[in-house]
Amino acid sequence: MKKLFLLGFAALWLFACTKQQLPEANYDIIPQPKEVRLDDGKPFELSPKTIVYYEAGLQREAEFLSEYVDNIIGYGLATEEMQGNETVGIVLRLSPADFKQAEAYEINVTPKQVTVKSADAAGVFYGIQTLRKSLPVSPIDSSQLNSLHRKCSAFDGVNDMGGCQLPCGTIRDWPSFAYRGMHLDPCRHFMDLDSVKIYLDMMAMHNMNQFHFHLSEDQGWRIEIKKYPELTEIGAYRNGTVIGHNGNLYDTIRHGGYYTQDELRDLIAYAAERHINIIPEIDLPGHMQAALACYPHLGCTGGPYEVWRRWGVSDDVLCAGNEEAMQFAEDVLNEVMDVFPSPYIHIGGDECPKVRWEKCPKCQAKIKELGIKKDDKFSAEDYLQSYVMNRMAKVVEARGRRVIGWDEILEGNVSETAIIMSWRGTEGGIEAARKGHDVIMAPYSHLYFDYYQSEDIANEPMCIGGYLPVERVYEFEPLPEELTPEQQQHIIGVQANIWTEYIASFRHVQYMALPRMEALTEIQWNNPQERDFEAFVERCKKMREFYELYHYNYADHIFNPRIWADTVAPNLATRKPITLRQQPAEKYTYEGAILLNDGNLGRGAYNSGRWLGFCGYPLDAVIDLEQPAEIQHVRFHALTNKGAWIYNPSQAKVLVSNNGENFREVAQKDIPISTWADKDGIFAYELDFEPITSRFVEVVISGFDLPEDHSGFGNPAWIFVDEIEVW
Ligand code: ACM
Ligand code: ZN
Repeated sequence: MKKLFLLGFAALWLFACTKQQLPEANYDIIPQPKEVRLDDGKPFELSPKTIVYYEAGLQREAEFLSEYVDNIIGYGLATEEMQGNETVGIVLRLSPADFKQAEAYEINVTPKQVTVKSADAAGVFYGIQTLRKSLPVSPIDSSQLNSLHRKCSAFDGVNDMGGCQLPCGTIRDWPSFAYRGMHLDPCRHFMDLDSVKIYLDMMAMHNMNQFHFHLSEDQGWRIEIKKYPELTEIGAYRNGTVIGHNGNLYDTIRHGGYYTQDELRDLIAYAAERHINIIPEIDLPGHMQAALACYPHLGCTGGPYEVWRRWGVSDDVLCAGNEEAMQFAEDVLNEVMDVFPSPYIHIGGDECPKVRWEKCPKCQAKIKELGIKKDDKFSAEDYLQSYVMNRMAKVVEARGRRVIGWDEILEGNVSETAIIMSWRGTEGGIEAARKGHDVIMAPYSHLYFDYYQSEDIANEPMCIGGYLPVERVYEFEPLPEELTPEQQQHIIGVQANIWTEYIASFRHVQYMALPRMEALTEIQWNNPQERDFEAFVERCKKMREFYELYHYNYADHIFNPRIWADTVAPNLATRKPITLRQQPAEKYTYEGAILLNDGNLGRGAYNSGRWLGFCGYPLDAVIDLEQPAEIQHVRFHALTNKGAWIYNPSQAKVLVSNNGENFREVAQKDIPISTWADKDGIFAYELDFEPITSRFVEVVISGFDLPEDHSGFGNPAWIFVDEIEVW
């Protein structure tokens, strides 16, 4: 009796506590909604009894919401088509008259009802994403966190409190950019369809609506084309892959794979349910070596060609003077358009070397036939590429679609209807917008997610190079000040790219994407005028709970900032007047010469802002110690990244002077060239000499030319140097 009473009491007590402790939804999410107004009043209580009522056309949206609640809270919600007078539950509605802009939505939360409405299903879907991200996921147990090198944790983020409360209020939200894209390259490393679907899920959670699917490359062809079956029989597989950063060692593992047209149709439907359009890219007329391996007569030399086993840009491209090659490209585009309903078709146009065309009789005959003349801006071969791109644009436009091309297609006379994807910076986008093109901003400076996201590169999986932390993505301003408001209207969107030369698995793709996608969506959807990185990182912490819930791999640098020593001991050179006899390359100058003796050690990748870069001429620095001092050591650091054309210095010299005019050499060091068997990284170089008293110290550091076994043979190598110490 007593026992029963106690049990009953305990149950009541538990019930009361559960009621009190129902976790609350929080609308402070990513991307941050443009307007959130909270009202006083009792919150809406989400429970297993909550029903999702949907207007005709919104059934799938209702099902998504139910699935998300199941993922987060542990039960799905019943879904029912609306009768029109529901006063409780969650209601999904279409209400075109209430919205001026596509994809905009409004969420209204009252004690009895949550209404999500929009002019279109996409807007309702984004409202649902906002509700989903507001829901309380169970906090992470940090001992269970996953990382790239560990197996996925068994994290169960399900909130097992039985429900949650949604604070009353109204959220109004709309996208800043109509085009919100992510790109994936499944050519350098093949990504299976299940992985691509997860990528689409990740995009959907971030309100992204354009998936740029890069389907052809030198290293592999990935889409079935029925008229040209060898493209996938032969072109989808390479017989090995270069090891490391384009060295001279190869593995012998056959690598490849492709998507059948049926599989792609299934993928397109999967994306469409998530309001994502898939933009196929056939990269023309360069990056075609895998196709040439199947059909060598379509290249200028006739081959033979192999599906490329190296990274980089192949000189072998489609022969623009060969009518069969042009017909091939047109046929491929037509079949691609049979499969993909996308209003945009990407026809590439980047990185097309002209060395074959310059020597090819057919290409030269075509230049004559078309009456192409070089001018002081562009070569005849540049204009020949415009001929190819404009011809392909006509094929695409004949079917009511629009072409997208990389910004190189501005080199020549591309038609104004082409949309320009600005990747080599924002300059191409600015020029294009001024000329009346629509533009998608995807500059590598801010939006290439294949770059390192930490300066501690020794502890990162190998990357192509670069340095692009979340902060830098978050800083990106897609609407350049140089443009007038009318010209800015041409910036239709923002996209990040993931190239996979050094990304062999989908878990690694996720690691590169997350959490940088948070900063990207914040810009694409919200594009805040004022940016507050710290507040943004706080909101990222919630997103991390979703990564754990869905077992997404991610980089944790912003969650666990690491502090490491990066200064040198004060020495005679520290912060003394320093001059350079020749300036560094403009892109790698930053604060200029003072970087070399500001006490901060070079670190991270070559473009971390902590290195000065020189190419083709030596670094020649003169430091004024301000008074004569006895010296006998000079030390500096330099970076080696052979794949990025950065070699160790070939020679260093120290000269001294007391008047700053007449210098005398006191030390010289010759340094052997780094070979592919040697590690890349950051290395210290030291010169010791007989003690000498002097006021001015000149340090001259020279570079190599790229050696024969380097793809850039014949060009000067870069040197990247920092922190000259003297004592
Ligand atoms: C590119 O990154 N080659 C467009
Ligand atoms: Zn040719």
